[in-house]
Formats: sequence, structure tokens, C-alpha cells
Amino acid sequence: MTSTTAPDRTAAAPGSAAHPIHPEHTPSGTLQLGIFFQGVNSSTVWRLPESGDQVAWDSFAHIVRTAQRGIFAAFFLGEGLRLREHRGVPLELDVAGRPDAQTLLAALATITEDIGLVATQNTTYNDPVDLARRLQTLDLLSGGRAAWNVVTTDNAWTGENFRRGGYLDHEDRYIHAAQFVEIAQRYWRGLPIDHHGQHYDVRAQGSLPRSAQGEPVLFQAGVSPTGRDFAARTADVIFSPYGDLDGATEFRRDIVERSIAAGRDPGAVQIMPGAEFVLAATDAEAEDKLVWLREQQIGPQQAVAYLEQFWGRDLSDFDPDGPLPDVPPEVEESDVTRGSGFQFGKAQELTREWREIAAANDWSILQFVRDKQGGRRGAFVGGYDTVADRLAQYAAVGAIDGLNITPWLIPTGLDDIVDHLVPRLQDRGVYPPEYVGHTLRENLGLPIPE
Ligand SMILES: Cc1cc2nc3c(=O)[nH]c(=O)nc-3n(C[C@H](O)[C@H](O)[C@H](O)COP(=O)(O)O)c2cc1C
Repeated sequence: MTSTTAPDRTAAAPGSAAHPIHPEHTPSGTLQLGIFFQGVNSSTVWRLPESGDQVAWDSFAHIVRTAQRGIFAAFFLGEGLRLREHRGVPLELDVAGRPDAQTLLAALATITEDIGLVATQNTTYNDPVDLARRLQTLDLLSGGRAAWNVVTTDNAWTGENFRRGGYLDHEDRYIHAAQFVEIAQRYWRGLPIDHHGQHYDVRAQGSLPRSAQGEPVLFQAGVSPTGRDFAARTADVIFSPYGDLDGATEFRRDIVERSIAAGRDPGAVQIMPGAEFVLAATDAEAEDKLVWLREQQIGPQQAVAYLEQFWGRDLSDFDPDGPLPDVPPEVEESDVTRGSGFQFGKAQELTREWREIAAANDWSILQFVRDKQGGRRGAFVGGYDTVADRLAQYAAVGAIDGLNITPWLIPTGLDDIVDHLVPRLQDRGVYPPEYVGHTLRENLGLPIPE
């Protein structure tokens, strides 16, 4: 997407003239990689002979060592405090929950030297001083490699694990988040905390020295307007869902504008979208692999279960090879207070729209869900050289600062990326030949907070 109104001040940067993001923004021309070890999810193939254990130490150790061999900036853990639920029971296909991030990252810190260790932790159910102290501990023990991915967590079933219980309104969650992060930062900086706000009543004082990088890096994941403003005010890096070039360009422009409005530098907030890689020696092989992969990821059972999240009712009588269900959704069972199925639309509208799309393409339930869930959105599919060229274009445009890769195979899903793609990115001059330093802030090029 090309801006038609902004003067092209980025034209001096190599290759950037075609996609000036914003007059105040200068592309770095390079990319970073992170690995997003998601745990329970819809994309990991766990039924292949080479599929490893999702919670075994060996799986984490193999992945983190491979990522560090590939000069990855960060090893990233998502947080899911409870298995996903549907109609009051865990999803049948969710085979494993996620181990506690900080315990796991502390262990991984002992077998790595350079890679950043990012813990996703929510501000809705933790307590700020307690979490700040634990993150600071990880930062100290790892020699300044810790980061916190701040999320607010949007479903009621997670809430039921905690004393507050159930669902918390969206805006209220972000009020929590802002107050929470402010308290945590004061704690890290050794400043007295005398906070008597809407949600916290805390008097405290930091108790640990600063780490080699000062304090943990702040990531943020959440892309509503409120979430974007929160990130523009506070985050170092956003973990976004916009991996296609147009979507990433638009998102960057928006974040640059919000950062300026918040009084920060236009490039103060780095952006790393999530991404999936389907690579092979040639483009044709990679295309075949994509078809095969989607079949592995989404079978008939997964397809029907996916639709049930949005219809809010039992659809097991519908044939996965037949058309989308012609029954109305049961909104009261499936609204946002239960799960995350309705983040982006209302049940009636959404299911009607989906039926229209499926009918127009003559798609069955299975075909529709394979396209919806997978398709090629956010996926980098192709021969090693093709994908390296495509990433070099992203770097030149400056739409993103890096990508967070979700491997579809654990634990060997990064091997081809590190062995075949990384060297090609290095040859193209868009990827670091080695770690700049031992702290995450050094490797991401972030300043140490005062
Ligand atoms: C790319 C991305 C990754 C996320 N990862 C997690 C996660 O691991 N755990 C979690 O509880 N929430 C996660 N979230 C959800 C956020 O917690 C947030 O609740 C949700 O996106 C709603 O905020 P929003 O309306 O601002 O987007 C993620 C969101 C995004 C966009």
C-alpha cells in the first residue's frame, strides 16, 4: 500500500521508495526473528511420527538451542492458564496446556547465552509488585535477556481460575493494564510506589538491583484501538497479527502516528507479527507442502469444532463435507463473556457472512475452515530463495522489525528455517550475522530506560 499524501522522505533509504510508511519513519532495513512457542493451538501438527512432546524439557531445549544457533532475538512463550473451553468443557482436540512461563524460561536461561526470553503474562489476574519482582528476577538471572509480553486476556473461562472470577470488560482490562505496568516500572526503577488508583492500592519499594539491560523489555499483544494506544504509550515491541505486507504497512503507519501522539519517537515501538513458514527447495514443492500441511492441521473434527465456537451450539450432526450449517447461532451461549470466538463480530452477522462466502466458492465446511484458519494469510510459503527475497522486501519497506515464527512441528520446526533461510537472509544483508551483545535490549537496538 503506497501513501498518496505523505512526502516521500524515506526515499533515501535503499528500496524504501515504493512503500513510504510515514514521513517521520525511517526503515531500519533489517529484520529480527523470534520463535513463538504457542503451546495449545490449532496450527501444530501433533500426529506425525516426528511430532514431539509439547511439554517435555527436550522439546523446549531443542527449539531454544536451534533458535539461538539461528541468531533469533527472542524465544517467546504464550500464556494459556486453562485449556480452551467450549460449551463448558475443554476442547477435545486441545491435548496439552502450557507450563508456567517463568519457571520454564528460568530453566532455559541456564542453557543459552544470547537469546531473549519473553514471558507472556496478563495484567488482569496477576498482582503488579509480585509479577514485577518475578520478571526482574528472570532478567537478573539471565544476564539481561528477559521480556514481558503484556496481555489482558479476553475470556471468561480463564477468569474462573482466579479469585476475581469470570469475565472483565474490555476497557476495564486496559485500565488495569496501564496501572499495572506503571507500578511494575516504578518497582524496577527503585522508585517509591504509593498508588491508590481504581484497581490497585499499593505502597511498595523495589527490592532488587537493575539488570545488565536495566529492566525487562516490554512487548504487548492486543490490537483494538485501546490496545494500540496502550502499546504506543508503553511498549518497546508489539506482537501483532498482521503479517501480510499491506496489513503490516497499514499497522506500522497507525502505530507511528499513535507513538508520535503519545510523545514518543516515531520508531519507538518495534513491530513483530506472528508468522508461519512453509519452506522447501523449490516454490512448487512448498506449494504442495502447504496443501499437505493444511490437511494435517485441520481434519473434519477440527473443522466442525471450529464452527461450533462461533455458532455456540452442537453441530456434530452436520457433514464436514457438506455446506455450512443452515441453523442460527445460539448467541447467549457463545458470546464474548465465555470465549474468544466473538472478538471480531456478532454471531448473527458473522455466521450469515460465512455462509455466503462458502456458498459463493462452493466450499464444504472442511474447505471453508481450511481457508479461514489457514489459507496463506500470515504464511510465508515458497522456495528458500523466494521467501528470502520476500523478507528482504519487507525489510526495505520497513513495515515490520521482525517476525515471530510459530512452528507447525515441535521440536524440529525451526531446523529448515535456521539451516536454509537464515543464511540467505544474511547474504542479502537483512539479518544479523551474529548477536550484537548479550542482552535483549542490545540485540533489538533498544535503549536502556533511565
Ligand atoms: C498476536 C497476539 C498474541 C496474543 N497472545 C496471547 C497469549 O498468549 N495469552 C493471552 O492470554 N492473550 C493473548 N493475546 C490476547 C490479548 O490478551 C488480548 O486479550 C486480546 O487481543 C484482546 O485485546 P484487544 O482487543 O486489544 O486485541 C494475544 C493477542 C495477539 C494480538
